[in-house]
Amino acid sequence: MKQKIAFITGINGQDGSYLAEYLVGLGYEVHGTVRRNSTPENQDIRLSEIHLKIHTHYGDLLDQGGLEKLLDQIQPDEIYNLAAQSHVRISFDIPQFTVQTNAIGVLNILEAYRRACPDAKFYQASSSEMFGLSVEEDNFQRETTPMNPVSPYGCSKVFGYNIVRNYRRAYGLHTTNGILFNHESPRRGSNFVTNKVCKTAAQIKLGLQDKLELGNMDSYRDWGHSKDYVRAMHLMLQHDVPGDWVVSTMETHSVREMCKLVFNYLGMDYKNYVTQNPKYLRPEELPYLKGDSTKIRTELGWKPKYTFKEMMEEMTQCWLDSFNKK
Ligand code: NAP
Ligand code: GDD
Repeated sequence: MKQKIAFITGINGQDGSYLAEYLVGLGYEVHGTVRRNSTPENQDIRLSEIHLKIHTHYGDLLDQGGLEKLLDQIQPDEIYNLAAQSHVRISFDIPQFTVQTNAIGVLNILEAYRRACPDAKFYQASSSEMFGLSVEEDNFQRETTPMNPVSPYGCSKVFGYNIVRNYRRAYGLHTTNGILFNHESPRRGSNFVTNKVCKTAAQIKLGLQDKLELGNMDSYRDWGHSKDYVRAMHLMLQHDVPGDWVVSTMETHSVREMCKLVFNYLGMDYKNYVTQNPKYLRPEELPYLKGDSTKIRTELGWKPKYTFKEMMEEMTQCWLDSFNKK
């Protein structure tokens, strides 16, 4: 059988790196884009375990011609569009760049794909942030929940979601949206709340830091593990019919509960160390997320392997080990 070829934008991000490892493990030839960076060493950090087994190319979602040239050369079977300005708080600081990348960038890669390799299957990294303030009566968000975003990031992702559906219907392309709820790992950027808490709590434990400053501790998130979620992305593209699927753990926890768990793991009480700094509050907050992933569980047989507690402990332990090595 012919070796399958995958193309991943944002391959050096959290999800891109785990997805690349997963697909290499399945026998795929894996290609992906990285952006030009003045310190090229920074780009390999998450790819250190597989960089010799994959092919990286310079590429940017803002450069449609470059994307089309790459897709024309590579002729992938599967395209995973994971690249984005993915930080919600920062999307208020750089709204134009966020919308250019996360909205127009999706249109750019869809057009490149439609012209260069329309027989491929296409995955779009859509987000629970699109639901914003909408919650169903049973306290879940699901595929049919109206979208009511509350950040430039959320608004940009709604455009990406809709244009992917439009290209599916208008041109008969195999384009799929994964509506993923928050997912974390030791590779999560340390300015997202889970990894910020794990990193700072480990520093406090080792006497390297004395306090942790956070924003809103009363928002709720449905937090899963990136490794489980990249399996879901792949499964979605193995389905004959394209569609939209929610991926979530079906549990929700507050930021406060998450802090308690991490500090307890290290034998400390978070109340002695955590303070609020208004600088980390958002102009508009999304207070509550809990995803109903019944559709992907029943139709595609996906379910997560990690529990929330296992994931947070793994992340905290990774920081402890890395500081202890220094
Ligand atoms: P991430 O770690 O921030 O990775 C994003 C990747 O996109 C990085 O490789 C980044 O490169 C690249 N990128 C940024 N702007 C780009 C541009 N203009 N052109 C090309 N590449 C660009 O994010 P992640 O956690 O892996 O998330 C992957 C995708 O899933 C994103 O689209 C995100 O919005 C979406 N998503 C994430 C979650 C979650 O909880 N993690 C949930 C739902 C949806 P640099 O390193 O050079 O910036
Ligand atoms: N980042 C951050 N830093 N968040 C904080 C802090 C802090 O110091 N203090 C409290 N929070 C709260 C935020 O206000 C938010 O309610 C919650 O912690 C989670 O924030 P993030 O970890 O930054 O994630 P997010 O939910 O805004 O966005 C992530 O999930 C989306 C899916 O719902 C990102 O990964 C997005 O790319 C993704 O689409």
